[in-house]
Amino acid sequence: AVSMDASNPVVIGLAADSGCGKSTFMRRVTGIFGGECKLNDIGRETNTLVSDMTTVICLDDYHKWDRTGRKSNPEWPDGITALHEACQNWDKMAADVTDLKAGKAVEKPIYNHITGELDPDEPVQPTPIVIFEGLHPMHDERVNEALDLTIYLDITDDVKFAWKAQRDIAERGATPEEVQAAIDGRKPDFAAYVEPQKAKADIIIQVLPSDLIEDPTGKFLKVKYIQKKSVTCAETPYLFDEGSELTWVPNGDKLTTSPPGVVIKSYDDEWFGAPVSVLEMDGKVDVLDELVYVESAISATGTKFYGELTEQMIKMKDAPGSENGTGLFQSICAFKIREAYESLRK
Ligand code: ADP
Ligand code: G6P
Repeated sequence: AVSMDASNPVVIGLAADSGCGKSTFMRRVTGIFGGECKLNDIGRETNTLVSDMTTVICLDDYHKWDRTGRKSNPEWPDGITALHEACQNWDKMAADVTDLKAGKAVEKPIYNHITGELDPDEPVQPTPIVIFEGLHPMHDERVNEALDLTIYLDITDDVKFAWKAQRDIAERGATPEEVQAAIDGRKPDFAAYVEPQKAKADIIIQVLPSDLIEDPTGKFLKVKYIQKKSVTCAETPYLFDEGSELTWVPNGDKLTTSPPGVVIKSYDDEWFGAPVSVLEMDGKVDVLDELVYVESAISATGTKFYGELTEQMIKMKDAPGSENGTGLFQSICAFKIREAYESLRK
């Protein structure tokens, strides 16, 4: 699946913990380029998604050891988590990002999540957009430098617990203590190697519990779309008037919401010392078609026509987060990737 236009791919980094909605986000991104992503056709299991426009590479493929090797490494008698910097093959990751960005095909390793083994390499051809998603796209400066646009999906602890609990307790018979223990076990390496990247990202989608209502299911959320003012390849989205601080409670006759309603804000702020613009949405929307009313109030969404954002939301209506700010802001972020691609391609 090589496009005519792949001589200078635009490369995007998406960082997040596993189980935090990266696959869903990637489906929203690939959805706007038309054509579903298909599995790479090398005839065996792979984590790479390919379409004519986009390639999504999962950085788990750069794990240095297989599962057994990680758990029985004499250097770490107590075991080491897959999040640790010592567990990634940074040289290969940097070489592959650099080569793909230069329009060269690479032979990429595969970490097999089912067997925990490192499978034989697979060929990856450059496409106009190449997305590196995983735990650490911004940790190694060579990789970070090569990336044209970086995104960090920041799922705060309470929400992470709610989502994992929803799935593991309801569907896999886990106890709340087991869910908490699984999260706690990853926490030191997450805090040391994954989380610090959020200061570096160009765009951050931060997901917090709702301020409006107590909701253990994690559907009512306060979500922030944070974009650094230093970003030049995509405009900053805002509500009504750029630079103003605004709080908007949409008219309940035009936007059907679950009580206690929806609150949308737009303001300037600082993110680890860097000036940023923030769009914020708290609450839950009940009728996705009506999002066109919200869309009409947001400027610089990166859409090509009025209604395109709502159209994308409706197309993905069954995906997690469609009813709250996670879906809306991931979709805006997808349009920002398209905008970045169109402004950077040569
Ligand atoms: P990842 O690719 O990061 O492992 P997924 O996209 O597969 O994550 O999502 C993992 C799970 O997290 C989903 O099955 C769902 O239960 C939950 N989840 C993800 N995104 C959301 C969201 N926006 N709202 C609620 N739950 C979500
Ligand atoms: C993280 C990584 C995965 C890795 C897992 C460890 O979630 O993203 O790539 O597989 O940790 O689990 P495992 O069962 O392989 O030890």
